[in-house]
Amino acid sequence: MRLPDPRPTVDKDAALVQAMFERVAPRYDVANTMLSLGQDRHWRRVATRAVDPQPGELILDVAAGTGALSHELLASGARVVPLDFSWTMLATGAEREGDARRLWWTNGDGTRLPFARGRFDAVTIAFGLRNLPDTAAGLRELARVTRPGGRLVVLEFSSPTWAPFREIYRRYLVGALPAAARMVTSHPAAYRYLAHSILAWPDQGGLARIITAAGWEQVRWKSLTGGIVAAHHARCPG
Ligand SMILES: C[S@@+](CC[C@H](N)C(=O)[O-])C[C@H]1O[C@@H](n2cnc3c(N)ncnc32)[C@H](O)[C@@H]1O
Repeated sequence: MRLPDPRPTVDKDAALVQAMFERVAPRYDVANTMLSLGQDRHWRRVATRAVDPQPGELILDVAAGTGALSHELLASGARVVPLDFSWTMLATGAEREGDARRLWWTNGDGTRLPFARGRFDAVTIAFGLRNLPDTAAGLRELARVTRPGGRLVVLEFSSPTWAPFREIYRRYLVGALPAAARMVTSHPAAYRYLAHSILAWPDQGGLARIITAAGWEQVRWKSLTGGIVAAHHARCPG
């Protein structure tokens, strides 16, 4: 039996999204790894290979959270600026042992970046674009701070490419995921938001069209884990 397409309207009020991430921050990484069955690390490694960071390059990681992708980028010798509007997400990452001190943690809004035009060689946004109130405006803002010819990599939940699996996945999102979240986090509402925001999000081709319409060029993508996630790559014109 096919479920009706819910295409929910998702409340992306920036203050609500910010407050939600403030609350989940301390257990975000653990919950993430458990609920993705350990796939999240693999997804970020693929995103890092897509960025192809070169030593000395300056990379902006928007909606960086606790800096999971920023660390992967840093390992290549690039200079990395993790930016997030949740102070607690940043602080949770910045207080960790190890390389955290080599990242330039920045508290800021991804829709109004505190940087000059063309400042970065590459920009990344992992599981953050879906949370911005205006996707197209967010992508234009990312293009503004990227140098001509610079790269964009978007890592985001997407749509399973095999139709029968799409249906199973949809059921998982609306049923099993919120149930599992009740066990591993004390903020199940955040995971209901996650499920609904994923269901309302465009598939691989749809996002590619939005990225192109926002002014990026040569958009291509790679589906990961059967299309549950996709990594989109694009170039800044110029
Ligand atoms: C799902 S987490 C992803 C974190 C990290 N990129 C990762 O891969 O684990 C989404 C992050 O986006 C941040 N965020 C959402 N809207 C934002 C905005 N307008 N400006 C900056 N950060 C934002 C949230 O605070 C949260 O840390």
